[in-house]
Parts: sequence; structure tokens; C-alpha cells
Amino acid sequence: MKDSFGRNINYMRISLTDRCNLRCIYCMPPEGIPKMSHVDILRNEEIVRITRVAADLGISHIRLTGGEPLVRKGVIGLIDDIHAIEGIENISLTTNAILLLQMAKDLKEAGLDRVNISLDTLDPVQFTEITRLGKLECVLNGIDAALEVGFDPVKINAVTVRRLNQDFLSFALMSVDRPLHMRFIEYMPVGASSGYDNSGWGPEDVISSEEVRDAINASARAKGLPELEEARDDEKPLGYGPAKYYRFPNALGTVGFISPLSKHFCNECNRLRLTADGKLRPCLFSDVEYDLHEAVRSGSDADIAGVFYTAIGAKPDEHHDKVGTERGMSAIGG
Ligand code: GTP
Ligand code: 5AD
Ligand code: SF4
Repeated sequence: MKDSFGRNINYMRISLTDRCNLRCIYCMPPEGIPKMSHVDILRNEEIVRITRVAADLGISHIRLTGGEPLVRKGVIGLIDDIHAIEGIENISLTTNAILLLQMAKDLKEAGLDRVNISLDTLDPVQFTEITRLGKLECVLNGIDAALEVGFDPVKINAVTVRRLNQDFLSFALMSVDRPLHMRFIEYMPVGASSGYDNSGWGPEDVISSEEVRDAINASARAKGLPELEEARDDEKPLGYGPAKYYRFPNALGTVGFISPLSKHFCNECNRLRLTADGKLRPCLFSDVEYDLHEAVRSGSDADIAGVFYTAIGAKPDEHHDKVGTERGMSAIGG
């Protein structure tokens, strides 16, 4: 499926829930967010049907997101069903990994190919400060489990925020001894995230990927360690997203940078987003949404396909520096 700007749309991110077992300060207020109405949430069989129609239209990569997708009931069965759909070549999941130790094996057996794990710091005190509810050890155990059951690749996402003063080098060095792909994401002041917890976070907290890379190289030099070099194509991990990859010489993994603000990647955008309440979003940063609810509850497959065509036709050329939406990140799925 091509959009009006000739981009091939083959990737759908499905947010399974806006709920989460953490309360990251850039994502949710301490008490959580008002629940979506239960009747609005797509049922598993509805998600499977939508995905089947999407696959017929040319969607071949599915990413499950949240909130936290692993808190959704029946997620294993859902993956099993999506895995069985003809045309779906790769299924991935973006998770905070709190439940990964206990679920990794079943997820793998159901047909999940790979995971991206959110982890913003390796400092246990700072980790609990950021997530409010989480223990670093759970995530580290989740990462071990992900490697052990054979997800490939395993990527780790850190959102960089200026006032957090994160230790970028320690994070990047996790890519050396194990095949971990450590990625830095420019903080996007989206939705109400910049206001939660009276954190007052805003555009001044965005750190460009270039600045992070320079900081890593400077710290490495100061310790007598080699600097990052650009990864060759055959060294890059499998993925369909916008990350640019580097690596330390002889490392088993890579270091990636995702730069939605400093380097627009809209011209490479290949994706649509499906929210847990059945809305198809052509662009992360725009509140324009198309409703699949009615089509999936009372329409035919052709009606569902019609909503896809409309949404793809409406994909904007780029976000024109408008960053911010009514929905928070947890209700869009990043
Ligand atoms: P793969 O490369 O296939 O592993 O996927 P990905 O990197 O797109 O997935 P992931 O869920 O790990 O996303 C990483 C970060 O990139 C998240 O913070 C997303 O919000 C951000 N991101 C992903 N897609 C887009 C996009 O289309 N626009 C913007 N601005 N950010 C995106
Ligand atoms: N800016 C950038 N990334 C964010 N994520 C959540 N909120 C933001 C934000 N405001 C990340 C999560 C996860 C991914 C899906 O999106 O940390 O890795
Ligand atoms: Fe949960 Fe992810 Fe939001 Fe943190 S960023 S509260 S892990 S949805």
C-alpha cells in the first residue's frame, strides 16, 4: 500500500491497552490515567480480524505496544492468532519487561519474534524515581530472559531527558558483551506528559541524538575506551523503525539513535497506529483518527479495508514540528 507521498505502508503498531503496571513520570500521573471504557476496547478477535484485513492490504510487520501490552488479558493467545495470519512476517512487542521473566517462554512459543524493552537508566534509585513503581532488577531479569528464550534482536530503549542527567556511557556499554541493541530516543514532549507530576518537562529537556553521541564518545575517550563507529548494514539489527545504528569495535550489539525532533524521519515513515479503542492514526503527532470500531462491529471486511484506505490517504507528508496531541503516549503506544 502506497500513501499519497509514495511511501510504502507495511508496518502497523497496535496498542493493546492504555493501562500500565508502571507510572513513568514522562508518561502518566501517579494515580494513572482515567480508564478507557471497557466497551470501547477492541476485543482480541476484533484485533485479529483487523490485522487479517491489514495483511491482505500489505501490512507485514506488527508491533504490539501499550501502555504495557503484557498486562492485557489473553495476549499470548492473541499473538498465536496473529502469527497464523498469512502475510504477517514479523511480530514484535515494546514492553517495560516487568512481566517478561515469567512470560518470555510462552510469548516465544506463541510466535513473537522480538522485543524492544524500555529502560531509561541503570541506576536503581533513579529507575524507581522515573517509573515510580518499578524495580530495576525486574527489568534486568526480563532482559536476561529475552536473550535466553531467543528473541532476536533484543533492543533496549532509553528516552533521554536533560534534567535526568543519565549516564549515557554505561548504558551504551551494555552493547559490548551481549547482543543487546541499546537505543537512545529523543524525549518527545507529547500529550500531557510534560505536565505530569508537575515535572514541568518541556522542549528544553530534549537532548539531540548528536549531543548524546558526542557525550558518549567524550566519556569513552576519557576512560581510554574506543569511540562509536557507524554500523555496517550487515551489523544492524533487524527492524523497521527509524533508528540509526553505531557500534563499539568488536561489540556483540549496537548503539542506536532515534531522532524524531532533531532529524525528521517522516519521509521514511512506513506505519499506521491502531489504538486500543479502535482508532487508526496516520501520524503519531496528529490527532486525526479514523474509527474502525463500527466497521469491525457491524461492517464487512471491505468496510474495514475502506477505513485503512482513508487513513493511508490522509497520512501527512510530515509533522511540521507540531509535537503534541490530545492523547498521551500511553494511549498511542509510542
Ligand atoms: P523497530 O525498529 O522495528 O524495532 O521499531 P521501533 O524502533 O519503531 O519501535 P519502538 O516501539 O521501540 O519505538 C522506539 C521509539 O521510537 C519510541 O519512543 C517511539 O515513540 C518512537 N517512534 C516509533 N515510531 C515513530 C514515529 O513514527 N514517529 C515518531 N516521532 N516516533 C516514533
Ligand atoms: N518521548 C519519547 N519516547 C517516549 N516513550 C514514552 N513516552 C515518550 C516520550 N514522551 C517511549 C517509551 C517506549 C516507547 C514505546 O516510547 O519509553 O520505549
Ligand atoms: Fe508504562 Fe511505558 Fe508509560 Fe512507563 S512509558 S508508564 S512503562 S506505558
